[in-house]
Amino acid sequence: MLPGPRERVLVGGGPDEADSLAAEVLTDALSAPAASKAVALAGGATPALLYRTLSRPPFRDRIQWREVHWFWGDERTVPPDHPDSNYRMTMEALLNPLDVPTEHIHRMPADNVDLEAAAREYEQTIRQYVSPGAGGIPAFDFVLLGVGADGHTASLFPGSAALNETERLVVPNYAPSQNAWRLTMTFPLLLAARHILFFVTGEAKAQAIGRILVGNEANLPATAFRNAPGQLTWVLDAGAARLLPARPGL
Ligand code: 6PG
Repeated sequence: MLPGPRERVLVGGGPDEADSLAAEVLTDALSAPAASKAVALAGGATPALLYRTLSRPPFRDRIQWREVHWFWGDERTVPPDHPDSNYRMTMEALLNPLDVPTEHIHRMPADNVDLEAAAREYEQTIRQYVSPGAGGIPAFDFVLLGVGADGHTASLFPGSAALNETERLVVPNYAPSQNAWRLTMTFPLLLAARHILFFVTGEAKAQAIGRILVGNEANLPATAFRNAPGQLTWVLDAGAARLLPARPGL
């Protein structure tokens, strides 16, 4: 399946090379001058190495990190100091080391017992800080996403209700495979981003990446991003790219 007109696939060798590639993509995308920028970050394990790379030279000196407003694409229903918290992981690996001002850090309040209220609150925060693009939907300058072995991204899991959301920007979503509720940005919001980067490493993701980038299988939530109107970049290590044809044209 050939990539879309604004899609590119970059394959690094080992995880470290892919990590540097992803750091280059992010800092290039955010180095363009702009009054204020907004970024939505991924959680999970994969980006932790990338965040630490970005927090150190040379990447830490490439952009004005303190000018960016930082958001999360999804969050687990745990307190912000919980080991599973995407917020905690990102603060430790990236935002604390870069001394980002707290007023630029917008935590997704998934620890609120009223997840509907939390979703509405976060949507209002996004509308307050992220300027609208086409159709009046807030357009993030950059969205970083991962992919699960089942093809989920953010907390948009196969078979979950949030996949059908066409209006709201943030919703609670029950993840059957996790047997847990999450808070997640939705397709309308994520797809409106100017630049989306999927950063995926490890053999465990090879099957999902093959099904997405070769099979273009619509039942994998991440596949929907191949029709994103903005720039779409996939940065993979050799393990995650194992089932892709050698040619970059896929
Ligand atoms: C999360 C993430 C999720 C993640 C994938 C991949 O909250 O877990 O936002 O979408 O990107 O599950 O996770 P790993 O990087 O841990 O494999």
